[in-house]
Amino acid sequence: MFLPIASKPPRISMGFLSAAHAMTLSASSFLSRVTKHAVIGPLACLLFCSTSTLAQEKVQISVDASKPGAKIDRNIFGQFAEHLGQGVYEGIWVGPDSKIANTRGIRNDVVSALKAIKVPNIRWPGGCFADEYHWRKAIGPQRQVTLNPNWGGVIEPNTFGTHEFLDFIEQIGADAYISVNVGSGTPQEAAEWLEYLTTPQQTTLAKERAANGHTAPYKIAYLGIGNESWDCGGNMTPEYYLSQLKIYSRFVRNFNPAQQDKQQMLKIAVGPGGGEARWTEWTEHVMKAWQNHQWSWDMNGLSMHNYTVVRWPPAFASVGFGETEYSQILKSTLDMEGLIDKHSAIMDRYDPQKKIALIVDEWGAWYASLPGSHPGFLAQQNSIRDAILAALNLNIFVRHADRVRGANIAQMINVLQAMILTDKDKMVLTPTYHVFKMYVPFQDASFLPVTFNAGSYVHGDITLPRIDAIAAKDATGKLWLEVTNVDPNNSVEIETSLNGINAKSARGETLTAPKVDSVNTFEAPNTVTTKPISVKVEAGKVTFKLEPKSVTVISVEQ
Ligand code: AHR
Repeated sequence: MFLPIASKPPRISMGFLSAAHAMTLSASSFLSRVTKHAVIGPLACLLFCSTSTLAQEKVQISVDASKPGAKIDRNIFGQFAEHLGQGVYEGIWVGPDSKIANTRGIRNDVVSALKAIKVPNIRWPGGCFADEYHWRKAIGPQRQVTLNPNWGGVIEPNTFGTHEFLDFIEQIGADAYISVNVGSGTPQEAAEWLEYLTTPQQTTLAKERAANGHTAPYKIAYLGIGNESWDCGGNMTPEYYLSQLKIYSRFVRNFNPAQQDKQQMLKIAVGPGGGEARWTEWTEHVMKAWQNHQWSWDMNGLSMHNYTVVRWPPAFASVGFGETEYSQILKSTLDMEGLIDKHSAIMDRYDPQKKIALIVDEWGAWYASLPGSHPGFLAQQNSIRDAILAALNLNIFVRHADRVRGANIAQMINVLQAMILTDKDKMVLTPTYHVFKMYVPFQDASFLPVTFNAGSYVHGDITLPRIDAIAAKDATGKLWLEVTNVDPNNSVEIETSLNGINAKSARGETLTAPKVDSVNTFEAPNTVTTKPISVKVEAGKVTFKLEPKSVTVISVEQ
């Protein structure tokens, strides 16, 4: 049956704190990473006024290239593709007989756009969908037609199954992150799926795989053991889930000879979906068990889900909003930092060596469905606000690179905070897509410490850090700096000093838009798009100007 999304329980409501407290925590933990913060209290400003401290001054950013930190795992730029709405059917799969240009049924335009952002991995088939997915129904010439009860109760044709997904990720050059069905499946079903996928030996399942077109074993980089098992995945207690985790971890094996050592498949356990006691207890329970685990089970990562929604059900519009909603959403998104800190602190107690990765495998903005769209399809537009939101979250992940070694934005195409929107043969790249493209150089680069005076952007009773920045050094020695200007009204002059490198030349590009709710549409696909900016290098300092509400990436050659 169709479960209207509005009936979803308030999973993160206002998160783990009151609205006022949440802002203090997120802002203070954010600000503890900058040298000083010019405070302007909300009382100094009338309701709905907007202002920016230090608007006219040059902001100094210092990057210490002599102290490289953790590697920024490229997998934090991962994607999530669930069988939901038009995410898979139409977004990826049009079938080999379609008039839309395709390779074995997979859209060519989408593949080439995704190749350009170097998608590291794709999580599939869900989401809530994964806990009702039975892989055998979607292989071979005779597909079973089933239902998708989570997302609109629509027909699931199963024409996009295991082989089609693996063909798709091979076409774009990404790794597979497969979530197995713990909620309504069995360990045997999942174990047989992995044998089917990965064994090189001539078992009956391997022969079936070959008969279906793939003789060689597949590589499966990640195995998700359940999804939100505390909610749509079966409403389990942490104790019950842990008993399932041990069984699945033991028996769902990867037999690919190439994955027995360094390339081993990483097993990701279900983790928290917020900061409230039920989720800190969940993290505590799983991590404590892992610390004392016996040889017969193991895990490599703990998943975390956190949507920017402000309150359930999602009510904010994705287009046609003003500065108040712009600032409210961006304030809410900064809760990500407090949430990661909270769960990382628990993980640190049981895993001080940080062997277990925190994988934020569902994140992004969740708005009200577009008027006229199916409410179960989670269709929304994507504006410059989402681009800024994406940059702020990616920067949070980067600052926690030692623990956050994977993340998957929800969701890749046509669903929630998408990279790509499609309508039949048309395709448009969203502002969020452009951010992911701008961040490609940060994939697997080394984190560099950055200090700066963030200043404040104030709108009504909301105060946010005005700018955010991260830096990294890539394998060739090139330095990359990202600076986000949250302020939608004022530009910011930046002067960067670099310790440990002798800057010779620099260049940059920026993403901005005319209005806080500017979007790209099929009719006007380039309203929000990147453009080069002028960057000066003088006496080793790099200076440039940030436009209001912008995401900017600078590269510096030494
Ligand atoms: O991304 C949409 C849904 O959000 C996923 O299916 C589920 O895991 C989460 O509740």
